[in-house]
Amino acid sequence: MRRSPRSRETPQARVPRSQPLVRRAPADGRAPRHPVIDVRAVTKVFDLGQIRVRALRNVSLRVETGDLLAIMGSSGSGKSTLMNILGCLDLPTSGRYLIDGVDVRDMDEDDLADLRNRKIGFVFQSFNLVPRTSALVNVELPLAYAGLRGAARRGRAERALRSVGMGNRMNHQPSELSGGQQQRVAVARALVTNPSLILADEPTGNLDSHSTEEVLRIFAHLNEEGRTVVLITHEPDVAEQSKRVIRLSDGEVVEDRRTLGVLDAPPPLQRQKSAHRRPLGAPVTEAQR
Ligand SMILES: Nc1ncnc2c1ncn2[C@@H]1O[C@H](COP(=O)(O)OP(=O)(O)OP(=O)(O)O)[C@@H](O)[C@H]1O
Ligand SMILES: [Mg+2]
Repeated sequence: MRRSPRSRETPQARVPRSQPLVRRAPADGRAPRHPVIDVRAVTKVFDLGQIRVRALRNVSLRVETGDLLAIMGSSGSGKSTLMNILGCLDLPTSGRYLIDGVDVRDMDEDDLADLRNRKIGFVFQSFNLVPRTSALVNVELPLAYAGLRGAARRGRAERALRSVGMGNRMNHQPSELSGGQQQRVAVARALVTNPSLILADEPTGNLDSHSTEEVLRIFAHLNEEGRTVVLITHEPDVAEQSKRVIRLSDGEVVEDRRTLGVLDAPPPLQRQKSAHRRPLGAPVTEAQR
């Protein structure tokens, strides 16, 4: 397997200090040469011995830098499976996935880990914060993995927390924070490495309408800065806050609808309707899908 020169660098050299990872559109308005995400006829089959689950069937999807994409579809339609592939957490069974023009098949484990750490910020429905550990230390973790030390790490984590309005809760542990606050810490952790691609799997699924608005506002801001944002949601009013919606059904893309251009500003934030929001932990009904 090919190893990139980067994987031989010292760990400290992996986190850029001065050069942002965000690629902005060229001044002449031309689209960047490679889409940030280029999924080509991807299939994912889970082989469980007796049964084979075809979670993705021939999915093709191109996402340009700066887009704000919502992925919808009913439970089991393949959304998280696709997200895991987009985030290089899993590989397709067949087909190709190119990220910024590079085929993930040509990368070894080091390259993939490096890519995930440098380029991609993940946000999950269940926050995935480390319990009994302060917000600040949670946000520092990706920088620790990247080899950044001491004061620089702390300073960047503090700035990320302030940027999501959590400057006054840095020393709180997850259990001392509301759901919306925990998700904002998780967003800070996702953006502390300055990733150009944010992948969020139902980031508002466990939030009330007020916290949902706050998290959507942060995503809109990140997108305005030029970052590509892909989020999975069951909620139509959350999907309305994107520039483009794709819908999966039985592992296939059945709808691809664009409402705003890639380089347009994100839609102005609509008040989140509370009617279809469910209380924490309640099962998802068909009407909410
Ligand atoms: N690791 C796995 N092993 C076996 N089957 C899996 C695995 N992960 C997902 N699947 C199956 O693949 C299909 C797609 O699952 P996926 O998690 O992508 O759905 P989803 O659209 O994210 O659903 P939800 O809205 O409930 O989160 C489902 O039938 C699921 O049971
Ligand atoms: Mg899922």
